[in-house]
Order: sequence, then structure tokens, then C-alpha cells
Amino acid sequence: MPIDTTAVSGEIVCVTGAGGFIASWLVKLLLEKGYTVRGTVRNPDDQKNAHLRNLEGAKERLSLFSADLLDFESLQAAIMGCHGIFHTASPVTDDPDKVEQAIIGTKNVMTAAAEANVRRVVFTSSIGTVYMNPNRSPDTVVDESCWSDLEFCKNTKNWYCYAKTKAEQAAWEVAKEKGIDLVVVNPMLVLGPMLQEGVNASVVHIMKYLTGSAKTYVNAVQGYVDVKDVAKAHLLVYETPSASGRYICVESMLHRGELVEILANLFPQYPLPTKCSDEVNPRKKPYKYTVEKLKSLGMEFTPIKQCIYETVKSLQEKGHLPLPTSQIQH
Ligand SMILES: NC(=O)c1ccc[n+]([C@@H]2O[C@H](COP(=O)([O-])OP(=O)(O)OC[C@H]3O[C@@H](n4cnc5c(N)ncnc54)[C@H](OP(=O)(O)O)[C@@H]3O)[C@@H](O)[C@H]2O)c1
Repeated sequence: MPIDTTAVSGEIVCVTGAGGFIASWLVKLLLEKGYTVRGTVRNPDDQKNAHLRNLEGAKERLSLFSADLLDFESLQAAIMGCHGIFHTASPVTDDPDKVEQAIIGTKNVMTAAAEANVRRVVFTSSIGTVYMNPNRSPDTVVDESCWSDLEFCKNTKNWYCYAKTKAEQAAWEVAKEKGIDLVVVNPMLVLGPMLQEGVNASVVHIMKYLTGSAKTYVNAVQGYVDVKDVAKAHLLVYETPSASGRYICVESMLHRGELVEILANLFPQYPLPTKCSDEVNPRKKPYKYTVEKLKSLGMEFTPIKQCIYETVKSLQEKGHLPLPTSQIQH
């Protein structure tokens, strides 16, 4: 991907939720590119954010700000004086009690961005704001013009998609009202190596098959994308002046049976499920989608098999997954 490697010295950007799975890779990339980065975390002294201080360039150009999404002033302090903002912080959960954090947090970040007169805000949204619509015909190609149906998200208790949809809508509203240049990235499920020590929610998606805790796989499809590519996509839309609107970000879509098969081929030593929990209905088919808008900016994706391989290796290296007995050195 033609990301310009010229240093952008002097440009200050803020990354909210800097210690998270995606944000950590974004901070790493921004530091590598020469940006000065202000990362917001809830507690800069928490060990779970220690990996950020070890990134190349962090000593010279990374400062961590203590900020909570519900605390406007804490966000304002981190954002004031920045040229750009990457707003990634959000609860990644289906807990209905966390919905307000995602929405209010986004409004707070956008308001602080307007006050600081930033050049551009890049918001990490989700495919969950795009595809959750039961009334879409199977022939429709899901693209950036599609929006999830809020009532459907609510009725199916999909509080994560509900919160992200409301948050993204709020971001667009504030952007319009206050004249902010907003660009949105809508990734599908993100996998890949972890920089942080803990396991984030989307990586659990494959970890559960390797630990033996999932005895069967569901009859469902899911799109996947590598975390390093998601970070690159954020930078690409930030640095491309003509970038605008939303960008779906995905490498490929797999049925859960295909995912489990890839894992079994790569790591046959783990107790992977071989049966679908739904033996009655035909295999669910992927919906049609396009990622051409992001590709037209020059984006290239890591093949999903490589991404899955690196995810499992990372889980092993960080001690979250026992090494298969054949790999243990005696
Ligand atoms: N991973 C995926 O598959 C995926 C796909 C599409 C979109 N996304 C979006 O990508 C973004 C990052 O997700 P991720 O996968 O990297 O998850 P993650 O590792 O859980 O990161 C989420 C970050 O948000 C922070 N956060 C949550 N609530 C907060 C609050 N009230 N105040 C301040 N910070 C708060 C967390 O801080 P703490 O560590 O303090 O909790 C954490 O740093 C999210 O907006 C998510 O919706 C993720």
C-alpha cells in the first residue's frame, strides 16, 4: 500500500483508547511515520498500557493522557492543540449499560475536536453500523450507503451494533453542525497479533475454538480483517485529502465452518470442533459486499489465512494458549 514514509514531524494527533487492540497498532504506525501522538487511556499507570511506552519513538513522541469518554474535560485536555484525531475508544461489548458511553463519548470527542479546530477526525466505526438490516434483499450489495436498522438491533439485543450505529450517527450530526472534516472506517471482525498483553473481545472469537471451550461452531458467516491493515486504513484515510465519508474495511468473509477448517489445517494439535450446532438448515451464505472504496485509495489487505496464523501465534507467545505438546521443548 503506498503509504508515504516521509516523516510528518511536528504534526500532533490524538488517539483515544490508545491501549486497545486496534489503537495500539495505530499508535505504533503513527510513531513510525513521525507523528507526535497523544494517547488517551483511562489510567496511564495501569500495567495494561505499558506496551505503549515500549513502542519505537514513544519515549520522544508519545504522551499518555488520562481520559474517560464520559468526562468531557479530560478529553478536551488531550485534544486541544492537536491537528487530527483518531477516535477508537468505545466499549466492545453487548452490555446494554455501556451503550451511553459509546454515544456520549463520541459526542464529547467531536465537540472537543470542533473546539480545537482539528484538520480531520477519523472515527473507528464498525460494519455493525452498516449491515444489520433484515429488510435488505439478498441481492443488495452492502456498501457505504447502507445503515443498520436500530429497531432490529434493539429487538435482537445486539447492543454493540446499536451503540456503534447511534455513535456513528451522532458523529455525523456533530460534524455537520460544527463543520468538522470527519472520515469513518467500518471494519468487519478484526484479528491479528496483539501488542497489548490482555486478550480483546474479537480475538476471543477464534481463541474459543482452540481452547476446546466451543464444542461446535455456529451456522453463520463473518467478515475478517487484519489489525495491522485496520491501522493502515485509518492512516490512509487521514492522509488522503480526497478521502470522505465511510470506508468498509474487510479482507474476506468466511462461514464459521471454513474458519474452523483453516485453524485445523494450520494448528491440527488443538481440539477444534468439527460439527455445526445447526445440522438442520443449509449453510448460511455470505451477503454481498464491496470494499472497492477503500481499495481505490490504494489499500491492500493481508490474506486472512496469514492473519489467522499470526493471531494464534500471538496468543501462544503471550501465554494465552498452551503450546501444543509437539511444540514444547523438553
Ligand atoms: N475488534 C473488532 O473486531 C472491531 C471491529 C470493528 C470495529 N471495532 C471498533 O474498534 C475500536 C477499538 O476496538 P478494539 O477491538 O481495539 O477493542 P479494545 O481493545 O477493547 O479497545 C477499546 C478501547 O476503548 C477504551 N474504552 C472503552 N470504554 C471507555 C471509556 N468509557 N472511556 C475511555 N476509554 C474507553 C478501552 O479502554 P480500557 O482498556 O480502559 O477499557 C480500550 O482502550 C472500537 O471503537 C470498536 O467498536 C472493533
